[in-house]
Amino acid sequence: MRALSGIQPTGPFHWGNYFGAIQQYIQLQDECDDGSYYFIANLHALTTVRDHEKLREYTLNGAMDLLALGLDPAKAVMFVQSDVPEVSELCWLLLTGTPMGLLERCVSYKDKLAKGLKADAGLFTYPVLQAADILAYDATVVPVGEDQLQHIEVCRDIAQSFNHHFGETFVLPKGKVLDQSARVPGTDGEKMSKSYGNTLAVFDDVKAQRKQIMRIQTDSRPMEDPKDPAGDVLFDLLKLVANAEELAHWEGVYRKGGFGYGDVKKALADASERYWGPARERRAEWAAKPGEVREILAAGAAKARERAAATLKRAQEACGVKGW
Ligand code: TYM
Repeated sequence: MRALSGIQPTGPFHWGNYFGAIQQYIQLQDECDDGSYYFIANLHALTTVRDHEKLREYTLNGAMDLLALGLDPAKAVMFVQSDVPEVSELCWLLLTGTPMGLLERCVSYKDKLAKGLKADAGLFTYPVLQAADILAYDATVVPVGEDQLQHIEVCRDIAQSFNHHFGETFVLPKGKVLDQSARVPGTDGEKMSKSYGNTLAVFDDVKAQRKQIMRIQTDSRPMEDPKDPAGDVLFDLLKLVANAEELAHWEGVYRKGGFGYGDVKKALADASERYWGPARERRAEWAAKPGEVREILAAGAAKARERAAATLKRAQEACGVKGW
């Protein structure tokens, strides 16, 4: 098994990123017998971040976040997407032959259009670059949140069609989501997402995080009524950071009724502070050594390039742009 995944440096990472994806990266770095590859997807982020200083800052910060959360460069290959130019070259080979209709059906693209975002060719062809990312490393498993599953299906379609046309070239990957956190809700109950402004940042300072938690929207059911905790945003978030004992306590309180959401929010803020405490300390340590982080990323990129170059050559030979 070889895992690969990417995360966009479009701002601070949030609970959805961590519980949906990053947590899996960390588990898989121990479980993969054939290596694991994780990268900061700065080329994808260019479709939304158009400020070069910000993009640089988010890229380095993103790497520091991953290290603080437990990614270990001794176990996993960690790098920045743009440091592997072979992937962009592979992307062109895949763009030819990708039906327009396949990309037009992609929900992430349709969502952005619906929100009035001006579409450019980068946004439209985003899933093809993602397919190149995955195929370049012969990844067999791609740990992600539910929102990325469609892109992995597109990747499989593109790979299958290339293989069918030019002969076996690419390994077909499978997406992997965690049942309990495939779609983490945000402070408004919708999917947590930077573009919806409803995120809880993993590394917000404690006070700012408390404020955010206190602002979580709750329903207006009478306080004295018993409530089913299933599907309640506060309870869903509490499940992610509280221990079993606390959860059992709050489940009982919900079922009995007669409580205020303010108390649950306080419990959530306390549990969150405890949960992220150790990572916050490690984050401060990494922040003090940007040189070391850059070295880790450079070493990762060298390993990643080697693998991507071999796949690119295979694909170039298969389709006839090399070996003439
Ligand atoms: P991105 O940067 O939007 O998100 C990074 C990861 O976080 C997951 N995620 C969530 N999971 C559960 N609940 C949520 N509310 C939530 N919000 C985000 C995402 O599913 C993702 O796994 N296109 C990708 C980046 C990418 C990539 C790749 C991923 C580029 N190349 C190759 C896998 C393989 C993206 O935009 O993720």
